[in-house]
Amino acid sequence: MLRQKLVEILKKNREGFISGQKLSEIMKVSRTAIWKQIKELEKLGYKIQAHRKLGYRLISEPDLLIYEEIAPYLNTKFIGRNYIHKESLSSTNDMAKELAYKVPDGTVIVAEEQTKGRGRMGRSWFSEKSSCILTSVILKPQIRPEKTVALTQVAALTVVKAIEEVCSVKTKIKWPNDIILNSKKVCGILTEMSSEIDVVNYIVIGIGINVNCTEFPDDLKEKATSLQLELEKPVDRKKLLASLLNNLEIYYKEYEEKGFESLRPLILENSITIGKEVRVIYTDREIRGQAIAIDKEGKLVIKTEKGEEIALLSGEVSV
Ligand code: BTN
Repeated sequence: MLRQKLVEILKKNREGFISGQKLSEIMKVSRTAIWKQIKELEKLGYKIQAHRKLGYRLISEPDLLIYEEIAPYLNTKFIGRNYIHKESLSSTNDMAKELAYKVPDGTVIVAEEQTKGRGRMGRSWFSEKSSCILTSVILKPQIRPEKTVALTQVAALTVVKAIEEVCSVKTKIKWPNDIILNSKKVCGILTEMSSEIDVVNYIVIGIGINVNCTEFPDDLKEKATSLQLELEKPVDRKKLLASLLNNLEIYYKEYEEKGFESLRPLILENSITIGKEVRVIYTDREIRGQAIAIDKEGKLVIKTEKGEEIALLSGEVSV
């Protein structure tokens, strides 16, 4: 909290110096405590000019998704209020699962880089260091395990809203949880959970957004893109992450209070799948037909050529 407040004051006063004495008065701590925090901030990548008589002046802040940089944009009550940021992790979802029982509801884990980022269906998740958003949110809802399918849809809606808010561009949800911009994927969501037969212990919602990456491996070039590539300008990762967490709290609360039904129209409105002829790989079956609805539980309803209606819990959809 102290460090966050210090950053806030330094940012407000970046035109000039602010003395150690003044800082210690405002923050009600000793000048030595201020000096220690300044050293900590420098370690995190803040460039701070220190003058023996005039005090401190902020020159620049790091382009990192640390809490001090996100907090000014965050309006949430519980999502992201326990916030863990790491330079490098194997996977934010793995760390989230390790910690889930020990940390409060709404804990957020963010990494600048993942060495073993995971996608759905056992795939790996590509990312460039400090160019993407790689985050996992730990939620502990009082719901039955089958209700989590809908929660993934809620997360997808959240991503669409956050991108719209920060980048003024509309993306679409490809069921169950890919976010598409100009026919290419800009974001993937990996929801994992631990549950008993009738109750969820925790859910981890892992979100990877390709924000400012510019190079993709050959096998992804056709299918994947980034916000920067499509918008032809860099996007503020800090604002986007904060908006993502703000919107997640809003929609998650609505989902908890009113149920999936209340969000279903918005999800349908933002779907790229509904109304299309699709081919779905579901376990080891291939199902072809028209995607006609997302049902009350978040399942995709397909009408096959024979007129049969099948509701799918998960699967890989080709439009
Ligand atoms: C997919 O589209 O297959 C899902 C991709 C999910 C990627 C995110 S990045 C943050 C979190 N940590 C992971 O290892 N995976 C998810």
